Amino acid sequence: MSIDFGTDIYEEPIVAKTFLSEDAQEGSLRPKTLKEYIGQEKAKGNLAVFIEAAKRRSESLDHVLLHGPPGLGKTTLAGIIAAEMGVNIRITSGPAIEKAGDLAALLTNLSENDILFVDEIHRLNRAVEEILYPAMEDYAIDIIIGKGPSANSIRLDLPHFTLIGATTRAGQLSAPLRDRFGVTLRLELYTPEELAKIVTRSAGILNVSIAPEGAMEIARRSRGTPRIANRMLRRVRDFAEVRADGVITREVADEALRALEIDWLGLDPIDYRMLRAIIENYGGGPVGIDTLAATIGEESVTLWDVYEPYLMQLGFLTRTPRGRCVTRKAYEHLGLSVPASLADEAEQLSLN
Ligand code: ADE
Repeated sequence: MSIDFGTDIYEEPIVAKTFLSEDAQEGSLRPKTLKEYIGQEKAKGNLAVFIEAAKRRSESLDHVLLHGPPGLGKTTLAGIIAAEMGVNIRITSGPAIEKAGDLAALLTNLSENDILFVDEIHRLNRAVEEILYPAMEDYAIDIIIGKGPSANSIRLDLPHFTLIGATTRAGQLSAPLRDRFGVTLRLELYTPEELAKIVTRSAGILNVSIAPEGAMEIARRSRGTPRIANRMLRRVRDFAEVRADGVITREVADEALRALEIDWLGLDPIDYRMLRAIIENYGGGPVGIDTLAATIGEESVTLWDVYEPYLMQLGFLTRTPRGRCVTRKAYEHLGLSVPASLADEAEQLSLN
């Protein structure tokens, strides 16, 4: 898809971290119940217990922090929690809540046991965060009325609500905020098998014919991320309809993804630029993430949130206190000769 920024037409990469307009259709692909939700077995199992317990006691669910790379289904899971609890959900994000008053307005409009979902909660500003502490702990907020010596503070009781915070960076959350979540769940990258199930389910909803090998080909190349898998599915469907008979086979998926410059492991041109830059400019590393980002002209948050987790999962990149290093596997994938220092597998393992 293209985004028109006035002068330039900028082609969004398939791994884009941000929400693309076509992702709006994702709504129809989103599972509505825990049972329909594929993968994240650990998080799902724990949540099922906490939800059941809160329901039996007729209480609001404890505050939940969801963290992990983008596109893994944090918003989807929040929607499911609301549906399973039988309560309303209000969705907002850290940067959208600019003033303490914005948050006060959101909180005072909730009903008993409702859920407030705050995406990118690590981006809340200090003043807003401080309103959140008593709200989470005591279900109350202190409102200052007036200015100067005649200013008065009144305490406003809130309904018992559940805050669900989502972040790609649990480490960037302030300790007081992190400590106020009763439940913290880390979402992991999905396995190709789980993603194949998700792609097959999505194809069913979109009324697209897909062979099991076609689903697996998309799954293997979607970097452990359902949002990317669903984007790929739509683009591969276009190829299937225009260049083939509408059925997504392994061959059609392969042709489409090659045309989109996604390699057989799901790496895109930015992954290649990252790995090549570390090898060619920094002797294989270590190099700091900001230096690397400047070298290849990308934002360090994008490398951090989107690119690194998958390259690390593949075992192509390691994070050391002195910076990022490429591994022997990365050299091999790029078809480059492995330097002597990495040639010994045992040595590589001991470095990790
Ligand atoms: N669509 C996106 N994420 C999903 C998941 N985890 N399970 C089922 N369908 C999905």
